[in-house]
Amino acid sequence: MSAQIIDGKVFAAQLRSRVAGQVKRLKEDHRITPGLAVVLVGADPASEVYVRNKGRQTTEAGMSSFEYKLPTDTSQADLLALIERLNSDPEVHGILVQLPLPKHLNADLVINAIDPAKDVDGFHVSNVGLLGTGQNAMVPCTPLGCLMMLRGHLGDLSGLEAVVVGRSNIVGKPMAQLLLGANCTVTMAHSRTRDLASICRRADILVAAVGRPKMIRGDWIKAGATVIDVGINRVARDGKPHLVGDVDFSSAAEIAGAITPVPGGVGPVTIACLLANTVTACCRAHGLPAPEGLAV
Ligand code: GUN
Repeated sequence: MSAQIIDGKVFAAQLRSRVAGQVKRLKEDHRITPGLAVVLVGADPASEVYVRNKGRQTTEAGMSSFEYKLPTDTSQADLLALIERLNSDPEVHGILVQLPLPKHLNADLVINAIDPAKDVDGFHVSNVGLLGTGQNAMVPCTPLGCLMMLRGHLGDLSGLEAVVVGRSNIVGKPMAQLLLGANCTVTMAHSRTRDLASICRRADILVAAVGRPKMIRGDWIKAGATVIDVGINRVARDGKPHLVGDVDFSSAAEIAGAITPVPGGVGPVTIACLLANTVTACCRAHGLPAPEGLAV
């Protein structure tokens, strides 16, 4: 293996420590405690783990954590009423509704009911529009974390060829916007792209967010490229559950210059970015400048 490993656990710990420092400053200088509300509808086991981790890390950073666990059969009206309540609660600076929602709920309607200034996921159409037009937006946590890791590893990204594989609203599309904003030449590819391998081969920066286990192999990668693997795919190995990315790590690590592992790459940085977004939202709500190094 020749690639340098970009360690998401180390990166996330450094970001959490910057967040905790800013929280301390907000408490001491302004008597403000940033607060994050997380809403979970139903009992999806993976979502329950995410929500528990988010709550623990929020309190560890010195912030207030408000958790709402609602039954699977919660009505749209009741969920919207809770969001209205959180929108007008001055102790809540960030609101996250864990996705996916049960099928009878309209996720677009729910997300767009969140006050855009408290939308720490950056999924509200107002934030999508602000990001697309290069204005101050709440930026979705996973692509924000990817951009921070890329900047940390490569410094200035100007002029680099970036290929994003995957076109989701949560990762692929905002990732492409962020890379464009960082002056990359961006290609968006996806599962139906023709000759995906040759498109990937031109990337100085390759972001894999397509949701297909080990789809991107070493011979799709340009020598020395920086590879960010957003995939979290559960597969069975020797009869046991196992996490793999969208990139075939062992062959990719022979060719790439640097690569994020799965697990321990993008995943931990995403939650740290959620904490950072909550501090950013809190500062903006109080007319304070967003701290350096927590936003883009
Ligand atoms: N479910 C999986 N990833 C996410 C995320 O980034 N935000 C929310 N709200 N739900 C998710």
